[in-house]
Amino acid sequence: MKKYLFLCLAIIAFLLQSCDETPKTSVTATERFADSTFDDHSYSNLKLIRTKHLHLDIDVNFDSKTIYGVARHEMINSGTDTAIFDIKGLEIQKITLGRDKEEETDFVIGQWDEDSLLGQPLMVTVTPKTTHVNIYYKTTDKTEAIEWLSPELTTGKKHPYMYTQGQAILTRSWIPCQDSPANRITYSAKVKVPKDLLPVMSAENPQAKNAEGVYDFQMKQAIPCYLIALAVGNLSYKKLGPNCGVYSEPEMINSCAYEFADLSKMVGAAEKLYGEYLWEQYDLIVLPYSFPFGGMENPRLTFVNPTLLAGDRSLVSVVAHELAHSWSGNLVTNATWDDFWLNEGFTVYFENRIMEELYGKEIADMLALIEFYELEAEMDDISESEHPEDTKLKLALSGRNPDDGMTQVAYVKGAFFLKTLEEAVGRKKFDSFLKSYFKEFAFKTITTEHFVDYLNSTLLEPNNIKFNTNEWIYKEGLPSNCVKIQSARFDQVQLLADRFAAGEDIFAKKVTYVKVKGRRKKKKVVEQLTRDQYITQEWQTFIRKLPADISVAKMQQLDKSINFKNWGNSEIMTEWYVLGINNGYEDIKPNIEKFLIKVGRRKYLAPIYKALTKRPNDLEWAKGVFDKAKGSYHFVSKNSIEEMLYK
Ligand code: BES
Ligand code: ZN
Repeated sequence: MKKYLFLCLAIIAFLLQSCDETPKTSVTATERFADSTFDDHSYSNLKLIRTKHLHLDIDVNFDSKTIYGVARHEMINSGTDTAIFDIKGLEIQKITLGRDKEEETDFVIGQWDEDSLLGQPLMVTVTPKTTHVNIYYKTTDKTEAIEWLSPELTTGKKHPYMYTQGQAILTRSWIPCQDSPANRITYSAKVKVPKDLLPVMSAENPQAKNAEGVYDFQMKQAIPCYLIALAVGNLSYKKLGPNCGVYSEPEMINSCAYEFADLSKMVGAAEKLYGEYLWEQYDLIVLPYSFPFGGMENPRLTFVNPTLLAGDRSLVSVVAHELAHSWSGNLVTNATWDDFWLNEGFTVYFENRIMEELYGKEIADMLALIEFYELEAEMDDISESEHPEDTKLKLALSGRNPDDGMTQVAYVKGAFFLKTLEEAVGRKKFDSFLKSYFKEFAFKTITTEHFVDYLNSTLLEPNNIKFNTNEWIYKEGLPSNCVKIQSARFDQVQLLADRFAAGEDIFAKKVTYVKVKGRRKKKKVVEQLTRDQYITQEWQTFIRKLPADISVAKMQQLDKSINFKNWGNSEIMTEWYVLGINNGYEDIKPNIEKFLIKVGRRKYLAPIYKALTKRPNDLEWAKGVFDKAKGSYHFVSKNSIEEMLYK
């Protein structure tokens, strides 16, 4: 009872504190940005006390599947007596204050609620002069950021593996921290791992193992906590350019080097567009298949999914995307998850510009058009959902999972807003605006409103341009002035799909005779439609343009001719599997099962499982597959799919 009373008092004290809007010290420009926002997805009292530098001293233990050690926070304290951190599923052992001489202090942890999104506030008693808070802790099996993989789930099958995923609010489940993007910190780490494994972080990284199994890391630029990342495995490194390269298990390092051979050119193209790359090194790490995303822009070390290894470099736009985040997202960061489009919309726009630089406008337009179709489909879904307001760029996610904002609205509506602005002012002016935007807000955290002010004062007003910015940002749906993209190659693909749907055997051999100069007899030419006549994005569009109610016989015919079901490229396979499920094409169930067990990327799992929820028999089958597969999914994917199948 007494304990309960104390907890209530502590929570009241915490609530009172977080209402205090007046910072007690004079603030720098960076802090001004943080101060003008309130992050509903963090308990931390940043306005009173905030971490400036974090030093992690941790041991990565594969036997117990835990990380344990100390998170040493060097803080800027405006004179408060409580520091509040975010934790979720962590065990806190003790907390001390001080740098050279540590003294133990009291702390209170808010109530644990199984369904809690935010986790718990960790309220630490400090003095108004405290600048160093050391939190001794351990991760638990409730830690959602980390996936621990047994050797069977790796490519080499001999060594275990682990990696973290921090965005949006999972860092608090592996590091006790003030887990709000509104605050930027530098960090360093001492990480101990088994001697046969190599750890890498979103920091300055080692390129080879050492004998002790202890490694030091430095991230000298200030970043939001969601970008702190760690991966440990049997890793090798291959340099791909003067300041870039790739890590992966040795078994796939050569495929990685082939697939990402253009990495250095990409960095060059990005710099040419929007200014110097400010993070020194740009490496990739190709993780195991269970990684829930295509890519994650951890600074200096983008994490990517091995499904990108298509063998033909057809999915490298994901790398262009993560690289673009080195400007939009990592240099200029959304202050709250309601401003997520500032990260992703700018990045999709920038990604498309990199693709245009490297592979030409025709390819870039095809990629943009594919995204636009996805936006239209998702906007329809959202408009009919319980949150039609989610089609606005500026979100209101208070009380909800910030992951709910991870829709094509932030990504593609955001990018098309910028494309439409570009069209209105002209590319030259728009590019110099973006370049100055990245410079002005580098290493800062901003809200949508900061962006709008900057847009008005530096681009629209000086050029006397009227633009429906408010409609784009604060209204549902897609404004009618949205840029339209054309692709002659997709028009051809549409014709091909129509001809097939109308009954023509588009794969039949066509024999023609052509006249050859100087010869009496005509030359026989046999033509047949083959896989390599179109690029991945064209085949993907071909599948999308087939009738939604295509017959099983037609799907069988296509598989016989061109074998979509075993294509190898996961974008195409996902498209095909969803169409097959929707039309009762039972033959491909074994292929679908194999795919769902191997791959953990949520973008692929979600539409496939979702299609399987429509019929009772399929749903039962899907639950069976999920039971077999879930052991190898990361929490992020497991949680989304579980909700889909069981709620
Ligand atoms: N930062 C995101 C991934 C993310 C967003 C993780 C929100 C957690 C919460 C990353 O840059 C991303 O957008 N990845 C995409 C790549 C694609 C749009 C090219 C993905 O994984 O599909
Ligand atoms: Zn992104």
